[in-house]
Amino acid sequence: MIKILNVVGARPNFMKIAPIQRAMTKYDNIKPVLVHTGQHYDERMSKLFFRDLQLPRPDIYLNVGSASHAVQTAKIMMAFEQVIEQEKPDLIIVVGDVNSTAACSMVAAKMNTKIAHVEAGLRSFDRSMPEEINRLVTDVLSDFLFVTEKSGLENLNREGIADHKVHFVGHVMIDSLIHFSSIAEKSEILRQLNLTPGEYALVTLHRPANVDHKENFIRLIDAFEVIEKQIKIVFPIHPRARKMIERFELESRIEAMQNLMLLEPLGYLDFMKLMHHAKMVLTDSGGIQEETTYLGIPCITMRENTERPITVEVGTNVLVGNNTGRIIAEAQKVLDGKAKKGQIPELWDGKAAERIVKILENELP
Ligand code: UD1
Repeated sequence: MIKILNVVGARPNFMKIAPIQRAMTKYDNIKPVLVHTGQHYDERMSKLFFRDLQLPRPDIYLNVGSASHAVQTAKIMMAFEQVIEQEKPDLIIVVGDVNSTAACSMVAAKMNTKIAHVEAGLRSFDRSMPEEINRLVTDVLSDFLFVTEKSGLENLNREGIADHKVHFVGHVMIDSLIHFSSIAEKSEILRQLNLTPGEYALVTLHRPANVDHKENFIRLIDAFEVIEKQIKIVFPIHPRARKMIERFELESRIEAMQNLMLLEPLGYLDFMKLMHHAKMVLTDSGGIQEETTYLGIPCITMRENTERPITVEVGTNVLVGNNTGRIIAEAQKVLDGKAKKGQIPELWDGKAAERIVKILENELP
């Protein structure tokens, strides 16, 4: 029996682990154990996703919660060390680039436990992003590196990672998008919010570089104030962004926008439905750049760089930073019917998790 710990911590992890967990149930000789660090803990940031993605309750919940980077990483490491000691897994799987990903990888590496990193090799080349540090640390420690796009192969090769550890398998997050597309379509969210398909822009925002600095946040609000004059804006707000709006006393400017709907964070299925029928998406998320590329929805990314360059090279994504004028100009292009057209990247076909589990089953002793 091969015992594998599937590790999740934060919202963008759940839709990546779900197809892996599902693919493992087809193998009698694999025992998956689902571990949730508790990095995200609000009902709307965590439990809702377990329900929507049909994930089982975590077998192990570490309840670490929010803290500074060092404290949060340390708390995850201390708790996860005990998990490895008790469970003695053959392998841990970590996904994405959040603090839980790097923290659990460090623990496993020091306890001589094999690590598989799903979504390996992505690089923004911007070390001011906490996720870039997490990616570098996790990749250097991993035994299996599962890559979503060709740039990942080049990055890992340049960093001297041995070829035999690296596997180009496609994207498990797109597996979830495909698997749940018909269920998401049944979501009532458009009707509930009185929205017409193609007649609203969807906004998400949470990167520290955008929301933790008042002057940067204001540049984005300046742009939204212009855009909402032409199209309704739907803005499900991340807890970090909400906290910062309060701290910087920006509530009155947000409330004054008649055509902007501020919502609580949404579940997976409602968000998929909203994204699929949006005229455009404005975001600073990593995963949303990829989901919009798959769906062919114009994506305006409010960042200077991306670790997911395929979405710009072949997809619908454009990078605009937090420059008010550039954000407005790109939104205007979409409104004028001149949105960038894109294609679906190689191997984003809904079968990445199956490829991953097959490789693991073949290669683990
Ligand atoms: C984390 C990830 C980021 C990912 C994002 C998706 C790291 C370094 N960052 O950022 O890569 O894109 O998740 O959401 O791992 N909070 C709540 N409820 C929660 C969780 C957080 O209110 O359930 C609040 C807390 O005040 C917390 C703040 O949000 O301090 C930030 O949470 P944290 O997990 O530190 O980082 P995120 O910004 O969510």
